[in-house]
Amino acid sequence: MRLAIVIMAGGKGTRLKSKRAKVIHEIGGKPLLRHVIDSARQVVPPSDIYVIVGHQAAAVEAAVKDTGVRFVQQEEQRGTGHAIQTAQQAVEEYEQILVLAGDVPLLKPDTITRLRDFHIEQRAAMTILTAAPPDPTGYGRVLRKKPDSPEVQAIIEQKALKPDQQRLPEINSSIYAFRAEPLFAHIGELKTDNAHGEYYLTDMAGILVSASERVVAIEAANPVEVLGANTIAEMMELDRELRLDTARRLMAKGVTILRPDTTVIDTNVEVGPATVIEPFVQLLGETKIGEDCRVRSYSVIENSTIADGVLIRQGCVIGNSRIAAGALIGPFTHVRPESDIGEGAHVGNFVETKKVKVGKGSKANHLTYLGDAEIGSGVNIGAGTITCNYDGVNKHRTLIGDGVFVGSDSTLVAPIVIGDGSYIAAGSTITEDVPPKALALGRARQTNKTDWAMTRRAKTSKA
Ligand code: UD1
Ligand code: CA
Repeated sequence: MRLAIVIMAGGKGTRLKSKRAKVIHEIGGKPLLRHVIDSARQVVPPSDIYVIVGHQAAAVEAAVKDTGVRFVQQEEQRGTGHAIQTAQQAVEEYEQILVLAGDVPLLKPDTITRLRDFHIEQRAAMTILTAAPPDPTGYGRVLRKKPDSPEVQAIIEQKALKPDQQRLPEINSSIYAFRAEPLFAHIGELKTDNAHGEYYLTDMAGILVSASERVVAIEAANPVEVLGANTIAEMMELDRELRLDTARRLMAKGVTILRPDTTVIDTNVEVGPATVIEPFVQLLGETKIGEDCRVRSYSVIENSTIADGVLIRQGCVIGNSRIAAGALIGPFTHVRPESDIGEGAHVGNFVETKKVKVGKGSKANHLTYLGDAEIGSGVNIGAGTITCNYDGVNKHRTLIGDGVFVGSDSTLVAPIVIGDGSYIAAGSTITEDVPPKALALGRARQTNKTDWAMTRRAKTSKA
């Protein structure tokens, strides 16, 4: 059977009051539309997925282009029915068409296949996915021919509900299956005589029933899956659901999340068993954390890979970096992009790293900036060390060999090479390469003036 999935994503999202198109707003760290595409891709190949774009089409396409789906341009957005009319040319050769909404993001692949299978089994012209959430206000309602019949009479939009229909509990999810032939035979009959003067896809139910076609409904197992996101508040409600779901998935794999409701964990994050995530942690993007780690409160980790047995203390900010097994980070460490922290290394409080490789077992425990540098193994970087990587125009690299000891408050002016096993005296400004095993002193020699202080005090007390 030839089956296409059409995703409606052309609307403006007026109720969102946002400059950006609704379907590229993110929940769980991913645009709404990408959630829908990711579920659809589990059911059909991306070449059979047609996304209808209209409002801010270029930005919407750019946000999901890499998925390999096709796009249909809806130049003017004249309603959900008009959106499907626009897609007719692209999809009329398919036998069956599943229609999804770009702003209904929690839909699971299983529910899509249940809808498809029920639609085929019922030999229906149109099958509507429905739900009965605690508050149906705002949604179109599905009117069945009889309460326990699968057959539908019509879909009635919220604004067209008669007083005695206000309590109809079953909502239209805006997710449907259609047989292509009757859909396109009758889609020209849609009219705009409604509250918004638009072509409503919902009217296809009544039109097909009048044409003696079979229209049925199937209720989603979990109403949360079909909730739409028209306002920021609704979107954040779905965001919360999604993140709790992610937390539950991780906990089922043996991760301890102390207060799941306070953590912000993006959908694609992976965490190994026996790792503990403390309250108010954010794990974002494509972050992967190994086993037996602990991420303490207020740390934010984005697009980073953390190996096993790592301790991230409170308040660390880590982005686009890698941390090897057994390392100890923080508290209050800023690990900026392309940092590669070696096995068992310690990077402590108020240390900032960027484009740096820190070797096995090396330590930078306090108040340090390490940028554009390669640091060997077993190195000790004293408090207050700075790699001076920037001359105002270009960035330069610092290379520090194995077993080097850098005394506190040293400035290493790049480009510079510090040889294996060398020592840098505290307070040095190093501008020349240091040979292996040498001691480098780069500071003025101290002079002590005997009795100077005593003499001065004696002078001032006389005056
Ligand atoms: C729609 C349904 C309503 C249902 C609800 C479920 C209609 C008339 N109403 O209402 O019965 O309960 O969804 O969430 O269909 N879109 C286009 N082109 C357009 C207009 C919309 O692509 O010209 C897209 C939007 O980007 C959106 C989807 O279609 O992703 C739904 O449109 P929206 O305006 O949000 O419909 P609702 O008012 O929520
Ligand atoms: Ca909607």
